[in-house]
Amino acid sequence: MKPALFVALPGNDLMTKRLASLCGGENGLVETRQFPDGETYLRFHADPAGRDIVLISTLLHPNEAFLPLAFAAGTARELGARRVGLVAPYLSYMRQDRRFNPGEGTTSRHFAALISQVCDWLITVDPHLHRYRDLSDIYSISARALHAGPVIAEWIKRGIGNPYIIGPDQESAQWVSEIAKDCGAPFAVLRKQRLGDRDVRIAPDGLDSIGGATPVLVDDIISSGETMLEAIQVVKTFAKVAPVAIGVHGIFASDSAARIEATGSALVTTNSIPHSSNKIDISVLLGAAIGERLREPSAPTR
Ligand code: R5P
Repeated sequence: MKPALFVALPGNDLMTKRLASLCGGENGLVETRQFPDGETYLRFHADPAGRDIVLISTLLHPNEAFLPLAFAAGTARELGARRVGLVAPYLSYMRQDRRFNPGEGTTSRHFAALISQVCDWLITVDPHLHRYRDLSDIYSISARALHAGPVIAEWIKRGIGNPYIIGPDQESAQWVSEIAKDCGAPFAVLRKQRLGDRDVRIAPDGLDSIGGATPVLVDDIISSGETMLEAIQVVKTFAKVAPVAIGVHGIFASDSAARIEATGSALVTTNSIPHSSNKIDISVLLGAAIGERLREPSAPTR
């Protein structure tokens, strides 16, 4: 049987090359471009017939990314692909997980339904599971969430002598406690109140004992940056050393990365979304899960 074909959607070439090589797959070229009217042209330059197709598309700008992804998946199926999987190192549309106000769309559900229609399986890293227990609550395909915590803990252990792990809000308790355990370090979870998209207040719970340790803030997503910025300010009033700010997914809406760096904190992210702050590599984590998925004798694509 031919090796799996790894296909980079626009902007995902580096990660795709790495994953194809880790998994012994073929890095297959799919050409995309826009017609003058804005429609997308797409062409496979390797034959998907009878093969596993692994599409790589981090979903930082999901509105733009979705159509090329859907066209690539549809074309692969049309050309006889065996199964079509999606590796989305960052999975978007997870935060609107309920109707907060009358009339709002629960976009997480609608997006999950769209992805479930076009792909046979999904692998992602630390999706924002807050009110959902598991991806299977909204995805009807096999959807696996990997955790960057152990890789982050390794990075901290290698580079930070006396870390004090801090989560900026209650939701972060799940990964912060695990990372602290892996590092053998103390941890604290702060209390956040979100008053608006760009207005958060954070209470400094548990920071009294930080002493001379290096504060290491870890959040799943840094978007507007308000959570991280507010947490940095709070932590700075207790710590003797500038905090390290780690985000699994650096979305960095507007100028938030520059604003965080201007506080004197070191900004660190995983390479789930390409950015100059990428210092933690999650490709081995993804590669292992893709390898397992490709070895599973599951039913061919619909
Ligand atoms: C939400 O609770 C998440 O864990 C993050 O704290 C949040 O998404 C960060 O968003 P922002 O950077 O916009 O404050």
